[in-house]
Amino acid sequence: MTWKKVAEKGGIQKDSGAQFNVEGKKIAIFNKDGYYALDALCVHQDGSIAFGKLEGDVIECPLHFWHYNIKTGELLDYLKGVKLQTYKVEERKDGIYVEI
Ligand code: FES
Repeated sequence: MTWKKVAEKGGIQKDSGAQFNVEGKKIAIFNKDGYYALDALCVHQDGSIAFGKLEGDVIECPLHFWHYNIKTGELLDYLKGVKLQTYKVEERKDGIYVEI
């Protein structure tokens, strides 16, 4: 596991998300009272949750509105026990880093 810089400090607006390509993976990072990182692609049909609607800890996939908890990666509807992988993320002096 290594830490990779994905954005400049302040590069992800508060209460929103952004998508990054890191080591061949699409990662969504949300700035919501801290930073949270998880796989960006919805398990339904690969919509990117990075561009969904964020309410509290819940992100809604923009394609067909499945919901995930951004802190745990857990899918909140339709299928039990499904999770997107989560990653550690940190804002440092020189940027935002994710461990992958
Ligand atoms: S691709 Fe996310 S709900 Fe269909």
